[in-house]
Amino acid sequence: MSETEETPDAQGSEETPINSPEVEAAVENTGEGEVAAEIEASDEAAAADGSIAEGEQDLLDEEASAETTGPVDAAVTNEPEESKGFVATDGSVLGRDFIIPGVGPGDNDPYKWHTGPKQVTTNNAIEIKDVVKQFGRTRILNGLNLGLPDDQISMVLGPSGTGKSVLIKHIVGLLYPDHGDVIVKGDSVPDLSDDDLFEMRKKFGLLFQDGALFGSMNIFDNVAFPLRQHTDKGEEEIESIVSRRLREVGLGEAHFKMPNELSGGMRKRAGFARALVLDPEIVMFDEPDSGLDPVRTALLCELIKEVHAESGGCYMVISHDLGTARRIADFIAVLWKGRIVESGPKDELFESDNEFVHQFLQADVVGPLAMD
Ligand SMILES: Nc1ncnc2c1ncn2[C@@H]1O[C@H](COP(=O)(O)OP(=O)(O)OP(=O)(O)O)[C@@H](O)[C@H]1O
Ligand SMILES: [Mg+2]
Repeated sequence: MSETEETPDAQGSEETPINSPEVEAAVENTGEGEVAAEIEASDEAAAADGSIAEGEQDLLDEEASAETTGPVDAAVTNEPEESKGFVATDGSVLGRDFIIPGVGPGDNDPYKWHTGPKQVTTNNAIEIKDVVKQFGRTRILNGLNLGLPDDQISMVLGPSGTGKSVLIKHIVGLLYPDHGDVIVKGDSVPDLSDDDLFEMRKKFGLLFQDGALFGSMNIFDNVAFPLRQHTDKGEEEIESIVSRRLREVGLGEAHFKMPNELSGGMRKRAGFARALVLDPEIVMFDEPDSGLDPVRTALLCELIKEVHAESGGCYMVISHDLGTARRIADFIAVLWKGRIVESGPKDELFESDNEFVHQFLQADVVGPLAMD
């Protein structure tokens, strides 16, 4: 802490080129603690208007300060450089400034298995660039890069708690990155105004992990909701679209049931029908198969493939089910430790000689991934 407290004095005005006037003024006037608090408070909303740059700047200041005062620090702490552990690109140190689930504080090389894209994809509908997302001290995404090709069904696989759902929330603008960018069909999501974000969401079909139905509406009204909200279609047309989608998912007889009268799997299928009613260009399914029996999982996979073959678009499916991956994926990305380990066409990933990818896709007990 002492090295950061020294920052303003130690640097003096010579270091100003990397400082924005606002950050410098804030550091001088309020002291580092308050600046950090300000950055914390501005969090997601601030990212949209670019003021998150202050956060980066602050970290850069820290790095510059550490560089300037490096030899002194080393003499004071007598700590060898390599015991620092992994240092992120913004200069923050794993174990001191942040933690990553599954990574030990002294690990200097947590990304040794992260070999990245097997081939560079063009025609990406979604591009995630260097995204960092931290909740408190826990960094869930740590410089994540991923392109999801248009007109393909992509699957994101990864151990539980690695940030797959968090990733989806960044794509639809429910969470903003602390750093980096999320580009959907050429638009930077964190830069969109609220109105533009609302417009953009019309392109999306979303199936949340828990189905996320409105508990006070029957199944028909739940599925009709996006049509009533986002289109000016008449009730007759809505009735015909909703009935078709509900029939497709095997809920043709459940129009007037309330969500709490359905099983978990039925709610999931209703959520699936709702995700598709707007014929979206981009569909995101967060574990569409959890809670379904094996036959219904297989049927749902068939349905996803059929609908995709009919309407095209970029589908992103998150699942733990390797059977689902084999059945429906064109493209697979494996997420671990806040970054993509490897991504590429399904067959290449299933035959990958990357130790982690091999272990994960073969569900092997031997490999880099352990229970903790
Ligand atoms: N809004 C939030 N505030 C604080 N922590 C959060 C928030 N959202 C997610 N997290 C944390 O981020 C981590 C990743 O969560 P996420 O739900 O993305 O995991 P996941 O990969 O989808 O896991 P699963 O496969 O079990 O669904 C978890 O440790 C979770 O507690
Ligand atoms: Mg999840």
